[in-house]
This record gives sequence, C-alpha cells and structure tokens, in this order.
Amino acid sequence: MPATPTLPASVSATRKVASLLSHLGVSAHAVDDTLGIINPLLTVSRLHARIEQKVQETPSACTLVLQAGAAFEGLVPGQFVVIGVTINGVRHRRAYSPRSVDGATQRIAITVQRQPGGRVSNHVHDHLKVGDIIEIEPAAGDFVLPERTPPEVLLIAGGSGITPCMSMLQHLERSNSSARITLLYFARSSQDRIFAQALQEMALRWPQLNYVPLDSSVNTSTGTPTGATLCEEVLDRAMPTWRSAMAWCCGPAPLMDTARRLWADGRTSGTLKLEAFGVARPSGDPNVRHQVSLQRHAEEIHFAAPTTETLLVAGEQAGYAIKHGCRQGICHECTCRLNQGAVKDLTTGDVIAGQGQTIRLCVSSALSDVQLESLN
Ligand SMILES: Cc1cc2nc3c(=O)[nH]c(=O)nc-3n(C[C@H](O)[C@H](O)[C@H](O)COP(=O)(O)OP(=O)(O)OC[C@H]3O[C@@H](n4cnc5c(N)ncnc54)[C@H](O)[C@@H]3O)c2cc1C
Ligand code: FES
Repeated sequence: MPATPTLPASVSATRKVASLLSHLGVSAHAVDDTLGIINPLLTVSRLHARIEQKVQETPSACTLVLQAGAAFEGLVPGQFVVIGVTINGVRHRRAYSPRSVDGATQRIAITVQRQPGGRVSNHVHDHLKVGDIIEIEPAAGDFVLPERTPPEVLLIAGGSGITPCMSMLQHLERSNSSARITLLYFARSSQDRIFAQALQEMALRWPQLNYVPLDSSVNTSTGTPTGATLCEEVLDRAMPTWRSAMAWCCGPAPLMDTARRLWADGRTSGTLKLEAFGVARPSGDPNVRHQVSLQRHAEEIHFAAPTTETLLVAGEQAGYAIKHGCRQGICHECTCRLNQGAVKDLTTGDVIAGQGQTIRLCVSSALSDVQLESLN
C-alpha cells in the first residue's frame, strides 16, 4: 500500500487558523465558505475537486479526471471516494472507486457507469463538464491490498466493478511489485468492457499480469443469459492455484454470490474480499407491511413499511423527507437507534433485533413493527 502523504504546509496552516477561529465562535464551514469564494480547491473541511478531463470509455461509461484540493490526502488503491453533486437544488452523494493518476495524491480519476433511471450517474454523463467543481470526501473503505502484497493475487471483476481492481493493478505495476496477478474480467461484450484497451496494453508490457477477459451476460438481469460464468472450471483454467490465493471480487450481486459460494465450500485456504456497489433489494412478501415510528428531535412520524422496501424508501414513499446522504450504507447520516422490533441489514443479511442497536435506514428493511430514534 502507498505511504500516507504528508499534508502540504499551507493546509496545516489553514487548519490551524480554522481551529483558532473556531475558539472565537467562527465555524470551520464559515472559514471554508470564505476560502471557497477565493478558490474552491483551498477549502479544508469540505473538500472539492475540479473536473479536468472527461473521457468516454464505453457507450455507457465515462471517466472524470479530477484535480482535488491540497487538503485531499489521497487514497489507498481499491478505496472509494464519495462525491457530492447538486441536482435540481438537492445535494446527492454517491461513492466511486477512483484511481490515482500517475501516482499523484490529488489527481484522481473516477469512472462512472450509467445506471438506467439513476440520478447521479446520469447527471455525471449528461451535465457535468470540464471546469465544473464537485464536492468530494476523504477516501475510505477496506477493499484494499494488504500491507505486504501476497505472491499471488486474484482479481475478479464484473462490469463497472473493474474500477477498484484497475486502481490496484496500476499501483502494483507502478510500484514494480513482484506479485503474479490474475484478472478475470466479465463484461457483456468487448464493446462494454471498460478499460479494454488499457488492460490489453498492460498485459502485453507486464508479463506478471494474466488478463482473462470473459464475455458474459450471465450476471446481468436483462435478456437471456449467455456466455461465460464464474465457476471452478473457469478458475482452474485461469489460475490453478486459486484456492490458496488471496482474491478480491467486485461486480454485480450474482457474480459476488457465486464467488461467496465457491469460497465457502470448505476446500479453499485463501481469502476472498468482496465489494458491493449496490445494496441488495429487500425480498420480503409485498403484501406484508410493518408499522414504523421514527422520532427525530421533537418530531415523531409514523408510516407503514412494506418488507420489499428499505425503511428509507418506505418513509419517503409515505411522503416524509427523511435525513439521509449516500443511500448506500456508507455515510451513516440515516443512522437510528432501534428501540423496539427487528430489521434485516441488507449489506450482511443479518437480523438486528433488540433495544439500543444502531441501524441504517437506507440498508435496512423491517421484519416487525419497529420504533426508531434518529441519531442525526
Ligand atoms: C464502495 C462503492 C464504490 C462504487 N464505485 C463505483 C464506480 O467506481 N463506478 C460506478 O459506476 N459506480 C460505483 N458505485 C456505484 C455508485 O455509487 C452509484 O450507486 C451508481 O452510480 C448509481 O447511482 P445513481 O445515483 O445513478 O442511481 P440511483 O438513483 O441511486 O439508483 C440506482 C438504481 O436503483 C434504481 N432505483 C433507485 N431508486 C429505486 C426505487 N425506489 N425502486 C426501484 N429502483 C430504484 C435506479 O433506477 C437505478 O437503476 C460504487 C458504489 C459503492 C458503494
Ligand atoms: S444514507 Fe448514507 S448510510 Fe444511509
């Protein structure tokens, strides 16, 4: 993993000034607002980045090259960064898995796949342009390589799930790692394969990379499934030692479910790390609804939650504006205390029951009537 960079002196100085001013009652955001008027990239508590380039990768994926301000402390390859954009006056936040451009700390690139009906991904494609400023947050997440890279690495990617893998690959190549890497990359077709050319060129100049592109619509929800699927035979052919290697997998839910099953059969000694880009939809009985009471400050709201929706969506469908941020279980802005009842955590499949536990509305569905108290 790359070393954590030291912050530039200007950022440390600005942070000291902001801290001094906060003792005098001036908030860090007010300092940032003033700095932002001079140059949005100077802010130190709310971070910004300027779009420097916009590149179409495939018909449905584009890359934004971003220049972040000096206060952005960089990323560990595989981590995500939450970006914030304002659409029709409403701020939306979503996570993307960037890669460092040429190893630079503040120059990063995100690649965004259009999602049918998706708010932010379509806004990125249709409205964001070179020169625009977007909000970014510090990098986070543990879908990363260990401190010491193992001798053999297996990366399994599907569709836009290539983005954290590309970040790791570029880092390993740049740092002259001696690891042998196998990349299995499922995409609907070569036309839809993000970074297709860059990966082919990488495999040609870097013999340690065993690049296995696979055309497949098996892991998508549309049309008749055709093509390759993740299975023991494919793994045996691509990397005979896969059972003892460390593996990372990022892609659509069916691909990750298959990987989870393969690694759970008791015959593997290696580890598998998974990164989900989307939250599984609740799969309850559409006719069953549970009563929810949600207290926030002095206000208490009541609504019925179908077991087929998250608590956040159920509340919104009932007409309430419920505090949230990313809608992906990352930012914790929708965190509530569960005072009574039980919910399902859709990121883990776990049942959370009992008084005092914390839950996130955007990734939970009701399993009974629940009483909740907002913690934000
Ligand atoms: C850690 C992490 C890293 C990520 N990295 C990347 C990356 O590098 N590249 C990338 O392209 N994506 C990445 N994502 C996914 C990304 O964050 C967004 O989820 C994605 O861009 C879709 O956002 P959106 O606003 O366009 O869609 P949203 O508006 O959030 O909707 C998502 C989908 O759900 C459907 N939907 C929304 N609401 C409902 C509803 N009530 N009922 C039914 N369907 C609904 C929409 O039609 C759409 O298809 C990552 C996600 C995570 C968690
Ligand atoms: S909205 Fe971000 S965790 Fe729920």
